[in-house]
Amino acid sequence: MVSDTLDIQISKAETSRLPQIDYSNLVFGQNFSDHMLVADYADGQWQNFQILPYGEIKMSPAMSVLHYGQTFFEGLKAYKLADGRVSIFRPNKNAERFNKSAERLCMPQLPEDLFVQSIAALVELDQQWIPDKENHSLYIRPFMFATEAALGVHPSATYKFCVLTCPVGPYFSKYLKVKVETEYARACDGGFGFAKAAGNYAGSMLPAKKAAEEGFDQIIWTDAREHAFVEELGAANIVFVMDGKIVTPSTRDTILKGVTRDSILEIAKSWNVPVEERRVAVAEILDGIKNGKVTEAFGVGTAATITSIAEIGFKGEVYTLPDPAKGEFAAKLRRTLDDIKYGRTEDINNWNYIV
Ligand code: PLP
Ligand code: COI
Repeated sequence: MVSDTLDIQISKAETSRLPQIDYSNLVFGQNFSDHMLVADYADGQWQNFQILPYGEIKMSPAMSVLHYGQTFFEGLKAYKLADGRVSIFRPNKNAERFNKSAERLCMPQLPEDLFVQSIAALVELDQQWIPDKENHSLYIRPFMFATEAALGVHPSATYKFCVLTCPVGPYFSKYLKVKVETEYARACDGGFGFAKAAGNYAGSMLPAKKAAEEGFDQIIWTDAREHAFVEELGAANIVFVMDGKIVTPSTRDTILKGVTRDSILEIAKSWNVPVEERRVAVAEILDGIKNGKVTEAFGVGTAATITSIAEIGFKGEVYTLPDPAKGEFAAKLRRTLDDIKYGRTEDINNWNYIV
């Protein structure tokens, strides 16, 4: 249950927009639930936590986020469990990462319990919006931005924390054809790739657009220095099955430490499947596809869930993976993780936060 330590003022929407939403055709991030949470940081503390009807917020055109991009976000999901209860998947991990992003962008910390309680209160209020359907959930988007009206390049004195929620279905509807990026980089050593800074996503759009023009669905990001090592897959982490082992790039300052990544590695370890977190060379993967050692590749993320890769393009050549429909590891991991998220199996790791 939501603890009562956080005082949140609630103004409910007069009417719900829920009847207008077509749940058979949910486009990711386009339908917002009836309410949103907002809070302010001023005078060195978080205050004024409010749940309001979803709507516009007032802003100054001089607000520093608009000029210097001091903003970041999180992404997590709430599920309707098999027994009808409502659960949020591992919100403490997102709280932890939220504060890592805040630290790197010189923004204030938000105590974990305030983060989790804010989200839980919003989800509890809009719980009718959670789709009760396989592969569907309520996507939760917490974010923080700098609100000081000042053009000097310095950390803002004031910030806003907001949370929106959206009912969503699968982010990807098919197996992916992806391109190894050898020109652009998502993140560099000493940068902030490990943070969910908005700027990381802004910088990814041109390369993603170019890749789409070449017929690819996503980009495999590689290291900025040599483009020789695999880092991530679009807005997801990347995992390979190689010689029966699970192999994934070890996290570093250029890689987002995904909650899904962590969860599937825990599950694989519980099955006694060898897990290797290490530098993964592009050449090793491409050779592995050719000689049959790499049998599966997939992206893992909150929005992406576990999405298999069918083809990898590299410098004009296409490397075809074995039919992802027969990919046993991805299927078993997906099933196991879904059984936990939808409450069909015992949550032995205590990952479900019951609202
Ligand atoms: N990497 C990037 C760049 C992302 O945007 C995401 C999505 O949040 C992930 C990885 C996967 O992280 P998570 O599993 O916590 O959603
Ligand atoms: C998520 O998986 O939560 C993400 O943040 C991906 C998003 C950029 C669509």
